Amino acid sequence: MDVIDETAEVLASLRGVWDEVEVDELDHALQAGARAVADGADDELVLASVLHDVGHSPLVAVDASVGHEAAAQQWLTTHFGARVGWLAGSHVEAKQYLAATDPDYAATLSPTSIRSLAYQGGAIAGSSRVDHAWWPDALRLRRYDDAAKVPGAQALSIDQVLEFARRVASR
Ligand SMILES: [Fe+2]
Repeated sequence: MDVIDETAEVLASLRGVWDEVEVDELDHALQAGARAVADGADDELVLASVLHDVGHSPLVAVDASVGHEAAAQQWLTTHFGARVGWLAGSHVEAKQYLAATDPDYAATLSPTSIRSLAYQGGAIAGSSRVDHAWWPDALRLRRYDDAAKVPGAQALSIDQVLEFARRVASR
């Protein structure tokens, strides 16, 4: 199967997967993408924003011993290259970092994110990733993620996402 068809299938598999309370994982993904576009993100950052939680897809999460962010990084690196994978794979560490360094950040988190922060290890200012050149974009992605949990909010269409995917895959 080609990478675009596979991406379409994985996106469709997120319909009806509930991690957050207010939106399912497909709406969450499409809203995160719209936030990225509105912020002027480049194609890879938009795609990583949409697909950061593919680790919750039943088609991707095959190994329960791996965190959903690591599953996403692996799948996205294979399909769309190292930067898309790395950006998505950083979204838990970005939350931990922001929780430790931005006093106002915790108030922006959903109840689900606050709960998962605890078992993910809590707020941590230091990470092996913070010195990386892509880290600022990982923090941008995390802000889109946190904002993409509102029923009826602006969202990309699946076709729009696949256009981004085509552009990134053709590089
Ligand atoms: Fe998310």
